[in-house]
Amino acid sequence: MNKIAVSILNCNFGKLDFEVEMINHSDAEWFHLDIMDGVFVPNISFGFPLIQTVKSKACKPLDVHLMIASPDRYIKEFKAAGADWLTVHYEACTHLHRSVQNIKQEGMKAGVALNPHSPVSLLEDIVADLDLVLLMSVNPGFGGQAFIEGVYDRAARLRELLDKKGSKALIQVDGGVDTGNIARLAKAGVDVFVVGSFIFRAADPIQTIKELSIR
Ligand code: DX5
Ligand code: ZN
Repeated sequence: MNKIAVSILNCNFGKLDFEVEMINHSDAEWFHLDIMDGVFVPNISFGFPLIQTVKSKACKPLDVHLMIASPDRYIKEFKAAGADWLTVHYEACTHLHRSVQNIKQEGMKAGVALNPHSPVSLLEDIVADLDLVLLMSVNPGFGGQAFIEGVYDRAARLRELLDKKGSKALIQVDGGVDTGNIARLAKAGVDVFVVGSFIFRAADPIQTIKELSIR
């Protein structure tokens, strides 16, 4: 089974209870929550009250992807709001090692995300400390963008790096994932697939998640 993390960025927020219940009853493994501050990325999404609301109804882990500048300022607050996995961007952290330690100290799993232009080799000296590496397959900021094909090769190189360093970190790909590219991503070594608009555009989201999950 492919592990699917459903990004709620493009769900119907007017029917949030219904959307959360749909994910609870589906084959998805995680909820993926995209936090955008209008500074690190050119968009603003949602904050703590919405995370808390999802947490109160979700029966699966919350995977929170921070697309914000200086994320260290809010690590405790994301834990308090209900994050189980917390991912920061390499490009947003001057003291990445400290950020990762702070996330773990709060009792969360720690992830680091790379924008499409950042080489995977940048993580060589930190992968052993990570629980997850997120490779962006679109430029962060919006749902529904076109998938960047270079991520296949990036995932394969990251898989080699993790093996070389003895890292147990999961590889996650985020952006433009659908039934047309998921098998090739899995083959390249990806463990967790973030999927948003492909699910919420579908006539039958539960069935779509099932199809994405089947290997
Ligand atoms: C993009 C976000 C993604 C996005 C994925 O900045 O990080 O998680 O919501 O959505 P789709 O699947 O629509 O590309
Ligand atoms: Zn994301």
